Amino acid sequence: MAAKLIDGKAFASRLRARVGEAARRFEAAAGRPAGLAVVLVGADPASEVYVGAKGKATREAGMASFEHRLPAETPEGELLALIERLNADPAVDGILVQLPLPKHMDEAAVIAAIDPGKDVDGFTTESAGRLATGLAGFVPCTPLGCLMLLKDHLGDLSGFDAVVIGRSNIVGKPMAQLLLAESCTVTVAHSRTRDLQSLVRRADIVVAAVGRAEMVKGDWLKPGATVIDVGINRLPPADGEAKARLVGDVDFASASEAAGAITPVPGGVGPMTIAVLLRNALVAAHIHAGLRLEEEL
Ligand code: GUN
Repeated sequence: MAAKLIDGKAFASRLRARVGEAARRFEAAAGRPAGLAVVLVGADPASEVYVGAKGKATREAGMASFEHRLPAETPEGELLALIERLNADPAVDGILVQLPLPKHMDEAAVIAAIDPGKDVDGFTTESAGRLATGLAGFVPCTPLGCLMLLKDHLGDLSGFDAVVIGRSNIVGKPMAQLLLAESCTVTVAHSRTRDLQSLVRRADIVVAAVGRAEMVKGDWLKPGATVIDVGINRLPPADGEAKARLVGDVDFASASEAAGAITPVPGGVGPMTIAVLLRNALVAAHIHAGLRLEEEL
């Protein structure tokens, strides 16, 4: 393997430690802990795992965790009423509604109900518009985590060719905006893109967030490229193995021969999402309390 491994797990653990220290100082100064509310509707197994992990990490960082689990058949009006209560609750600095929501709910309407000042997921149109126009605001956790890893590895990103594969509101679009703000030349590829391979071949930075197991191959890459793999795909167990295999959107075996640096799956981008969520919640808490964060997080 030629590529350097970008250790998101270690980076996330350092970020969580810094957030934990800042959370302690916040509580001493504000007379209350920072608070994060997480709402899960239904019992999607992956979402259950994420929401459990978010609550645990929040408590471990010394912040108050408010977990709301609603049955899948909850009427949308009840969820909107809960969000209204959380918007008005001074103990709650951040509100995260876990996606996807059950089919009978209008995701856009639910996100729009969240107070933009508590939108630690960065999913409201206010947050997305602020990011797109270069104003300070909350940035979605996964792409912000990817950017932190990229800057940690590459330093100044100015002038790099970047290809983002995937155009979701959660990852692809905000990732493209973040890279553009760092003065990269950004291409956003998606399922209708023609000749993805030759686009990827030009890229100094590749961010793969399509949700297709091992799609990006090593021989697509420009030698030395930096590869950020956002994918988490479960494959059936390999021969002789008992457990399902977790793989990214990048074929790690071949890509790690061609890339200059690459994030592994698991242990790359995944751990960053929760660390950045805690960071965003603590930033929100400081704004609500009128306090200044002593250290850039
Ligand atoms: N579903 C998948 N990723 C996310 C995320 O970052 N935030 C929320 N709220 N839901 C998600």
